[in-house]
Amino acid sequence: MTNPFLSIDLLTDAIDLVAVLLLALGIKGLSKVRSARGANQLAAVAMGLAVLGLLIEIQPGPMAWLWIAAGSAAGGLAGLITARRVPMTAMPEVVALFNGCGGLASLLVAVGVALFDSASADMVALVSIAISVFVGSITFTGSIVAMAKLQGWLDTPAWTQSSVRHVVNIALAVLSLVGAVLLPGDPTGLPLWLVVIGSSLLGVGVTLPIGGADMPVVISLLNSYSGVAAAAAGFVVGSQLLIVAGAMVGSAGLILTQVMCTAMNRSLLSVLFGGALGASGGSAVGGGGSEAGYTRITSCSPEECAMALEQAERVVFVPGYGLAVAQAQHALRELSKLLEAHGVEVSYAIHPVAGRMPGHMNVLLAEADVPYEQLIEMDLINPEFPRTDVVIVLGANDVVNPDAKSDPTSPLYGMPVLEVDQARQVFVVKRSLGAGYAGIANALFELPQTAMVFGDAKAVLNGLLSELRSMGVGKVVAKKEKEKQKVAV
Ligand code: TAP
Repeated sequence: MTNPFLSIDLLTDAIDLVAVLLLALGIKGLSKVRSARGANQLAAVAMGLAVLGLLIEIQPGPMAWLWIAAGSAAGGLAGLITARRVPMTAMPEVVALFNGCGGLASLLVAVGVALFDSASADMVALVSIAISVFVGSITFTGSIVAMAKLQGWLDTPAWTQSSVRHVVNIALAVLSLVGAVLLPGDPTGLPLWLVVIGSSLLGVGVTLPIGGADMPVVISLLNSYSGVAAAAAGFVVGSQLLIVAGAMVGSAGLILTQVMCTAMNRSLLSVLFGGALGASGGSAVGGGGSEAGYTRITSCSPEECAMALEQAERVVFVPGYGLAVAQAQHALRELSKLLEAHGVEVSYAIHPVAGRMPGHMNVLLAEADVPYEQLIEMDLINPEFPRTDVVIVLGANDVVNPDAKSDPTSPLYGMPVLEVDQARQVFVVKRSLGAGYAGIANALFELPQTAMVFGDAKAVLNGLLSELRSMGVGKVVAKKEKEKQKVAV
């Protein structure tokens, strides 16, 4: 008699359950910088378990094993090379590519079942095939277009900025939906190809007009779509694990999209249908960010800035997109260490959309070994600015623009910002008076407590380091170190 407690089904169900729990814990852990690395490993283990469970369940024959091994080796190698080589600044492109692969996988699974196994499929599976093909195709082509635009391989064609694109996209959407409705009745024929072609073109048509700088929001949305496509594919092949994992990715992507839109003061509809933003990130909604627009600018040298730092008791650094461009995170960490050893209290103010992708600044600073506890989220650091002696804004612009709070005519009005204007002294490090992503002037630059330190962020930070050292701050460090060592002895 077979033991019901040792059946293959029970074993694979147990593996699936553990994998789902680990995935959920992984997603939860990703919300904190400290636990993110471990959470990622947890999710990778969950994926490994999911594959193992599937292999136990389907028990492939020798030829299938060969294909599975070859596919795993090729995919694993591509993933490994990408992960090792890709610079942090190109992470949105990689995420877009991964989303595209997820969409393509769901699309292929659904098309495969439609063509070769639909005779035994019930209505739920047939409807799921239609959904998986529809969402999978949009995700695949949309993600590839997003990646190509971010890489600079693809420009925004002029015609996509006119209302013609809405007509084209509506026609493609109608074509795809007609195919999707007819597909359950004829899963191998024309309706299937109507959905594949119509929704693939729709993915291109919707993503092509969107500006490079809005692309992270679209990528997050496409990430959500890839989850929906995977969940639908789960219904197609009867995999509970795929349904749950897809639903988790779908909802997490949607929440992230919403968080990004709120933090950027943009509605999802305006991102999707509002037209392209300029290639440099300048916005169609902005204006007035030219250098000529400013009349009361004070600038200073790194030497003057260093003197203020030397006197300060509390310093807050505000990292932005320019810090990432300049790759100045290591120089910043050096400067912080010097100041801390000088007895200065140092922290970093993190705006949720500083930089060009979610968590951009956290990752950048973590790379330079900045302690997590010094990275302070916007809501927590804002009340601290009035008691801050010096704020150094490093290649950030929109996220510190006080107009977002006080000027109802500003395109940024309503966007939560870092209230650095409340600090006693503000130094803004950037190369010019040029605008940031939103393409508008920044009232912070003209406030009496603000001084501009013009230059590349890395060059200015290195300048500050050598100024402070020449002022003896480094020697104080050495002296303090020696005193510490003496005490220790
Ligand atoms: P931005 O407002 O874009 O400003 C970046 C500033 O960096 C620019 O004004 C530029 O001025 C300066 N810069 C560029 N290269 C530099 C260098 N080598 N050294 C020093 N400065 C340099 O950046 P932010 O304050 O981080 O705000 C992010 C913006 O991006 C927000 O508007 C946000 O809505 C948008 N956005 C964010 C995301 C996510 S999820 N993070 C996604 C899409 C869009 P100069 O040219 O004068 O140097």
